Amino acid sequence: MADCQNGANVTESASNLVELNAVDFAYTAGGKPILSGLSMRFPRGKVVAVMGGSGCGKTTVMRLIGGQVRPQQGEILFNGANIPALDRDGLYAVRRQMGMLFQFGALFTDLSVFDNVAFPLREHTDLPESMIRDLVLMKLNAVGLRGARDLMPSEISGGMARRVALARAIALDPALLMYDEPFAGLDPISLGLTARLIRSLNEALGATTIIVSHDVNETFQIADYVYFIADGRIVAEGEPEALRASADPFVHQFVHAEADGPVPFHYPGPSLADDFTGEAAR
Ligand SMILES: Nc1ncnc2c1ncn2[C@@H]1O[C@H](COP(=O)(O)OP(=O)(O)O)[C@@H](O)[C@H]1O
Ligand SMILES: [Mg+2]
Repeated sequence: MADCQNGANVTESASNLVELNAVDFAYTAGGKPILSGLSMRFPRGKVVAVMGGSGCGKTTVMRLIGGQVRPQQGEILFNGANIPALDRDGLYAVRRQMGMLFQFGALFTDLSVFDNVAFPLREHTDLPESMIRDLVLMKLNAVGLRGARDLMPSEISGGMARRVALARAIALDPALLMYDEPFAGLDPISLGLTARLIRSLNEALGATTIIVSHDVNETFQIADYVYFIADGRIVAEGEPEALRASADPFVHQFVHAEADGPVPFHYPGPSLADDFTGEAAR
């Protein structure tokens, strides 16, 4: 066993809440590979960001960790358990330790703010209603919205709704928090507030956070470590300061939001000349 031969590896593994080891993934067997040989580390207590262009597979990484999809190859370890190998009950138990805020993850519009946050507690625990009330108010307090408990989603702003969604994601005190594009569609003030909340909730819960985002400024402010994915692989990784200073062309283009660089502006297709002369149609 590798454990016996290499003490350093054991220590390293134990310090990661989540690990991806050489993961290959395609949505259909034999279909277009989305992730190829992807390995990532998510150390306990840290905020780690997964970044990259639209369609590069960021949400897919979250679905793999959540066990919604299974890889063709490789391991996805959560607390040492290989997620793809878990049975239904095992997966359910592991998911209980994960708080997820999905991309476009909306609140239940027919439930009040209070009932939205209470939902996972009622779904996953047998706690008495009096205790659920205390827990919900604590979570709402943590996001500054205890006073909004009786409002309906239609009565609150988009920024407030995102904070209610955060409170719902942390309702069960998860060990792992995963946020998919948590800054999308927010005004600059809500954006800054949400970013600071994501950081402070991680500290308060003693959790580990994974953020999937393409928003460099906000993400770099709160992430301890950043992975950049392109073409199903990691093209760059490091601490935000190091990446900001990186001369790597991909990182430079992404961090400085340049239209031209290794990531082309144009979707691959026939040349402009061919399209206009009709050559492309032949
Ligand atoms: N359910 C699905 N079935 C087939 N292909 C999918 C599915 N979901 C996403 N894809 C494809 O997988 C790739 C990665 O998607 P995704 O992980 O959502 O990217 P990102 O979150 O980085 O924008 C994209 O090319 C997308 O079209
Ligand atoms: Mg996505």
